[in-house]
Amino acid sequence: MRTTHDELLDAEDAMVFDDQPLDTAALTHTICWRVAVWSRLHTLKNSYNMILKLFIAFSFLISASYGQISVVDFCVADYSVANGPAGYSCKNASKVITDDFIFTGLGVKGNTSNFFKVAVNGAFDLTLPGLNGLGLSLFRLDIDVGGVVPIHTHRVSEVIIVMEGTIIAGFIGSDNTAYFKTLNKGDVMVFPQSLLHFQVNVGNIPALAFVSLNSPNPGFQFISASLFANNLPSSIVEKITLIDKDQVKKLKSIFGGTN
Ligand SMILES: *[C@@H]1O[C@H](CO)[C@@H](O)[C@H](O)[C@H]1NC(C)=O
Ligand SMILES: *[C@@H]1O[C@H](CO)[C@@H](O)[C@H](O)[C@H]1NC(C)=O
Repeated sequence: MRTTHDELLDAEDAMVFDDQPLDTAALTHTICWRVAVWSRLHTLKNSYNMILKLFIAFSFLISASYGQISVVDFCVADYSVANGPAGYSCKNASKVITDDFIFTGLGVKGNTSNFFKVAVNGAFDLTLPGLNGLGLSLFRLDIDVGGVVPIHTHRVSEVIIVMEGTIIAGFIGSDNTAYFKTLNKGDVMVFPQSLLHFQVNVGNIPALAFVSLNSPNPGFQFISASLFANNLPSSIVEKITLIDKDQVKKLKSIFGGTN
């Protein structure tokens, strides 16, 4: 049987692999809390309600110490050391300069000469080292008339603001309910973490939007490419998608899949 203790350990593991840099002082603090709280739990075996209250308070403490509070002002990415699940290591603070916190170039339209007539450019941990560890990124989205950001997913949530044009944006819940709407200048929509979502320019001028995501490196998994740009044998792609052989071949040739 899973115990509250297992859940606490799981919650902590999840926090360690969150996008925040691992903060060893906070971790030590959390471990002390865990020992203290857990021995207290042992003395309260008969009081389920009390345990529940402690668990809720404890979860709050963990999320507060990992999600919000830091013992350093910033952790500018040190690209000379490999990236890890918690982000890049911190550049020596004595070598940090103002430009580590600046990204320029989102004032100009991206290159939309491609199959989907779309360009995405922006500030994330590889282009703006000061974002490392802060749980943020920001992108400019240009979608030409008839263009589309095809259905895709990220590890985190996204918020969009439309600056020019008219787009249909939407996402699909894990129960397959679709939430979608036509957005115009000034409209904002949020796409909850990891859910499939899309944007389509349905207006007659190029659309411009900005999106922000709550990770310095949100990841991007474009479903059609995942299915048809891979090296899985076509016979397996047919089985796992229920799409017939000719169509699988056609899509593999569009997306560059092999086998
Ligand atoms: C950071 O750089 C300073 C100045 O070069 C140096 O004295 C210090 O030892 C460095 N700190 C670390 C942790 O490397
Ligand atoms: C835009 O992208 C296309 C396709 O990759 C390329 O041929 C073209 O040179 C690019 N245009 C500019 C202005 O960079």
